[in-house]
Amino acid sequence: MPLYPLIRPILFTIGAERAHRATVAVLKLLPPAGAAKPDPSLATRVAGLDFPNPVGLAAGFDKDAEVFGQVLRLGFGFAEVGTLTPRPQEGNPRPRLFRLAEDRAVINRMGFNNGGFGAALPRLQRRPRAGIVGINIGANKDSSDRIADYVAGVRTMAPLADYLTVNISSPNTPGLRGLQDKGALDELLAAVVEARRGLKPPIFLKLAPDLDRAGIDDIARVAIGRRMDALIISNTTITRPELRSQHRGEAGGLSGAPLKALSLGRLRDFRSATGGAIPLIAAGGIESGEDAFARIRAGASLVQLYSALVFAGPAVARRICRDLKNLLVGAGYSNVAQAVGSEPAS
Ligand SMILES: Cc1cc2nc3c(=O)[nH]c(=O)nc-3n(C[C@H](O)[C@H](O)[C@H](O)COP(=O)(O)O)c2cc1C
Repeated sequence: MPLYPLIRPILFTIGAERAHRATVAVLKLLPPAGAAKPDPSLATRVAGLDFPNPVGLAAGFDKDAEVFGQVLRLGFGFAEVGTLTPRPQEGNPRPRLFRLAEDRAVINRMGFNNGGFGAALPRLQRRPRAGIVGINIGANKDSSDRIADYVAGVRTMAPLADYLTVNISSPNTPGLRGLQDKGALDELLAAVVEARRGLKPPIFLKLAPDLDRAGIDDIARVAIGRRMDALIISNTTITRPELRSQHRGEAGGLSGAPLKALSLGRLRDFRSATGGAIPLIAAGGIESGEDAFARIRAGASLVQLYSALVFAGPAVARRICRDLKNLLVGAGYSNVAQAVGSEPAS
């Protein structure tokens, strides 16, 4: 019998951030039993990496690279740690993380709280090179040279990462999203690509859902020009679709079910703007096999989730994989790649 429906009400009586810390502590103490045998029909190759399945854990859950091994054993096909910044930082004052249970949503204004590269490094260095672990890098809030922070992230983390994610889309570090403007973006990506020279990992760029068509076209052009290996669409939104929960007025980035339509729309926009020139990775409100299948059909080669883990619990990756497999088979596909972009482009 699944345990999470029993544990969830207890977890939900404590504050969201304490509940998150408790979850990480439990994962450390009681590592999950281990993944079942991967299903070959879910295996997929993206950016030169072989993913056992296309369902990944999005950044922000394992900010300090403490439990990525356990996360992979929950059935995720890959785990993204971070966002890590060069120096440790506290993040914003608490409370800064809110569960909107009635909306199956989360609002966070964590502000890149993390222990910095130095704290995460030994854990990443010790890791067995099994499973796909991406390292998401960012800039310190008080940095005088943000581009230099990303360059340091590439130099420090590239030898340890299966892929790197350049995160310029957190709404909680003032000005960070300005790096999505075409001039700033081109300068950043040129520096990042130069820093990776001679090193292996592909570089993914993570973007906000709060972009208009002109902005998307500019980003697509720069990302193709600088040979990004994939785009992650999307981070949290600062917009507020209709919400019911008492915390709906909190400032920060909104994720979970209410982000679904917005991220799917942006994925379609990026598909048409990139014309298939760069693999796309979907995130935002994915909570079911149907959601994953819809993103894949709309052009995503992989998907990621975070908020659904809060509401559906640790079995969510396995359930999505099982349902996705059935949907693929039912639609006549024998693997994920065949279904990518099978919806007519808009
Ligand atoms: C509490 C919390 C913290 C997050 N922290 C980060 C982060 O540090 N870096 C990042 O790139 N995205 C971060 N995200 C965004 C997620 O990775 C993801 O893009 C977003 O939540 C949409 O997916 P979801 O609806 O499945 O949660 C965070 C999300 C949440 C809910």
